[in-house]
Amino acid sequence: MVNKVVVITGASSGIGQAAALRLGAEGYQVVLAARRTDRLDETAAKITADGGTAVARAVDVTDRDDVVALVDGVVGEFGSVDVFVNNAGVMPLSRLDALLVDEWNQMIDVNIRGLLHGIAATLPQFKAQGGGHFVTVASIGAHEVVATGAVYCASKYAAWAITEGLRQESDPSIRVTTISPGVVESELADTISDPTAQAAMRSYRAVSIPADAIAAAISYAIGQPDDVDVNEIIVRPAGQR
Ligand SMILES: NC(=O)c1ccc[n+]([C@@H]2O[C@H](COP(=O)([O-])OP(=O)(O)OC[C@H]3O[C@@H](n4cnc5c(N)ncnc54)[C@H](OP(=O)(O)O)[C@@H]3O)[C@@H](O)[C@H]2O)c1
Repeated sequence: MVNKVVVITGASSGIGQAAALRLGAEGYQVVLAARRTDRLDETAAKITADGGTAVARAVDVTDRDDVVALVDGVVGEFGSVDVFVNNAGVMPLSRLDALLVDEWNQMIDVNIRGLLHGIAATLPQFKAQGGGHFVTVASIGAHEVVATGAVYCASKYAAWAITEGLRQESDPSIRVTTISPGVVESELADTISDPTAQAAMRSYRAVSIPADAIAAAISYAIGQPDDVDVNEIIVRPAGQR
């Protein structure tokens, strides 16, 4: 067993679920967190049945108290949190002139505030225990802006900037990684309600890679020796330009 406790937000589907399965199989002790607890329970049960250690915990990352309770609960149960993977995200794309302001706010709440809540809940624990590793799942949208993606890309540029700031401010005992996926098979595009953006995404997302490709990048980053800090990884489908 790799004696490390890894908390993954957004572990009920897609990249978070794939990361939980991979890390669970590699011997990490995995805490799967999201709102759909039935999905979390299923995945945790699979990891456990395969000989791993995994628990499912309900969390809404937009609620700071919820995230604090998650981290405090994990520390109480496992004794530490060694890796916190800020992965939960939503992507209801639309043109700005569609004025889907509630969806803009949802992206800000989950993709930016949710990330900050994860950092705020975990940073004091990392300092108290003398180290830890933050992993942010950002996006290729943290590196380029596409039409219909103004707010989503802004939220991911913010995720990139917050994570880079965290790296610069952190003691060497705290490692910080940003992973930026290209198009990955998941439920992410299901959050798009705008018909124009849905149509555009069907062709944009035609070439994709499995979520496990990103899980492998997370595993690589956290599996390095303590003095090796993998700060950035971009993983695209070979066919994505
Ligand atoms: N798939 C891609 O092409 C791609 C590309 C670049 C970046 N990403 C990023 O990868 C991350 C994972 O997305 P995915 O592709 O795996 O999509 P996904 O299958 O839709 O997974 C998103 C996860 O976020 C969770 N989530 C959403 N709102 C939440 C909230 N308020 N509180 C807690 N959890 C919440 C969802 O769980 P519940 O609904 O159960 O809460 C779900 O587990 C996101 O940050 C996304 O922006 C994905």
